[in-house]
Amino acid sequence: MSIQTDNIQKLVERRAKARLGGGEKRIEAQHAKGKLTARERLALLLDEGSFEEYDMFVQHRCTNFGMEKSHPDGDGVVTGCGTIDGRLVYVFAQDFTVSGGSLSKTMSEKICKVMDMAVRNGAPCIGLNDSGGARIQEGIDALAGYGEIFERNILASGVVPQISAIMGPCAGGAVYSPALTDFTLMVKNTSYMFLTGPAVVKSVTGEEVTQEDLGGASVHASKSGVAHFAAENEQEALATIRELLSFLPQNNLETAPFVETADPAGRVDDALNAIIPDNPNKSYDMYQVIRSIVDDGRFLEVHQDFARNIIVGFAHMNGRSVGVVANQPGVLAGVLDINASRKAARFVRFCDAFNIPLVTLVDVPGFLPGTQQEYGAIITNGAKLLYAYGEATVPKVTVTLRKAYGGAHIVMSCKQLRGDVNYAWPSAQIAVMGADGAVNVLHAKEMKENPQQAQAIFEEKKKEYEDLFSNPYQAAQKGYIEDVIEPRNTRFRIIRALEQLSGKQASLPAKKHDNLPL
Ligand code: HXC
Repeated sequence: MSIQTDNIQKLVERRAKARLGGGEKRIEAQHAKGKLTARERLALLLDEGSFEEYDMFVQHRCTNFGMEKSHPDGDGVVTGCGTIDGRLVYVFAQDFTVSGGSLSKTMSEKICKVMDMAVRNGAPCIGLNDSGGARIQEGIDALAGYGEIFERNILASGVVPQISAIMGPCAGGAVYSPALTDFTLMVKNTSYMFLTGPAVVKSVTGEEVTQEDLGGASVHASKSGVAHFAAENEQEALATIRELLSFLPQNNLETAPFVETADPAGRVDDALNAIIPDNPNKSYDMYQVIRSIVDDGRFLEVHQDFARNIIVGFAHMNGRSVGVVANQPGVLAGVLDINASRKAARFVRFCDAFNIPLVTLVDVPGFLPGTQQEYGAIITNGAKLLYAYGEATVPKVTVTLRKAYGGAHIVMSCKQLRGDVNYAWPSAQIAVMGADGAVNVLHAKEMKENPQQAQAIFEEKKKEYEDLFSNPYQAAQKGYIEDVIEPRNTRFRIIRALEQLSGKQASLPAKKHDNLPL
């Protein structure tokens, strides 16, 4: 064998060994937990054969607690770049088979390298997390490594899309890198996120709780809102990342890719003319409206199980990517509360940062009243959504379907928040408040003084109020909406508006950064 052939043989063998990470036994243990290995995950995430691995031979530099005896190549994380549907992405996948995927200083250096490359080359960065947290043997070096990653998450925010999948444990401060990224996906039953685990919770508060109940996928997807997606299994989580990217641009200087559709832009849907119930207190399903107006009925919902009184997600309209925000009359009558405001505000800001036009469908009775909401700072949280819409410079097309009362009307992308094209259905009621509430405020004294006639006064004044305000024409007469449209035409009217706005130029006053109400 020549020296060169021998060299190549050694390389092949070393690569093969590195690919085994912590070895076959640990890979079996990973599979036994229902989890894939880092490399198996990357193979599912990326286009076949597209993965370019970097730093396969990087080793840790720790000399404590016997770590000096073992230096596995790669050090617990697989990093590099590849493509998804032919588009460049940077990736890192923690390898639980090497020291439980725990974060060493060298691991952080590998991760930071691909994060830097993602920003330099304007491509999304995707992290697959499966880690026991800071590598205990490295002490402060591991913490410094986290700090380096967090800082890069912050600097990359709004520059390239950042996506985190949690595919195993994620505890302590390690949860903050995913929290700083744009989207967090979790896998049901095999992943969890918490600041302190069940043992610490018990010792500090006495509360007994399982890992799943404390920080499992269902908890974070429905209660805390920390996770944007909860997948049934790892395959589904990885497929969701691929789908999500199909709606996103590569970076903040680009627009999302155009996606061909056979769905005609001019398609009308007669069913929408009959969707609003005669009784204003009855609900209908906003999903039906969304699926009717978007291309091929395809809608990728974000935060599906969290704050279900508002719906947010991505769709295409005549091939262009849009962010849809819609009140859901079927849940809490579509009221805006703290969680709905937070959820929608974050989504609106993401879309604005990445040049994705906003389509807003409004049917909102107002903000949720009560001490719970006031004590929880609905004022500050509601202001987040107000702020997000008001600062957004992407094209904003809004359709008011039914109720748009008071502050909630203003918040939901009204004209004065620089809404570009605002339409209303004939069923719209754009007013300070609903008729019942208004009559009770304006005519309380009169009704109290004439108890026998109170009901008649109420009915008469209600009718008067409804005739005046429970329609879209007051707003239309004043130019606060561009037009009153037939519901069946909603799809093509929005598409035309988006096409008209595709060259929109708008900016904000020069400033260091804003001070949105956090
Ligand atoms: C070094 C670690 C490790 C860690 C796990 N391992 N966590 N090594 N540092 N943080 C090693 C284990 O010793 C073991 O090595 C292998 O990884 C697999 O771990 P197991 O415990 O056998 O796996 P499992 O039973 O599945 O339990 C997984 C686990 C548990 C729940 C994650 O390992 C665990 O509780 N680890 C510690 C978690 C933790 O407290 N981390 C620090 C958080 S504080 P061998 O050689 O036996 O296979 C933190 C600060 C971050 O992260 C601050 C950022 C600002």
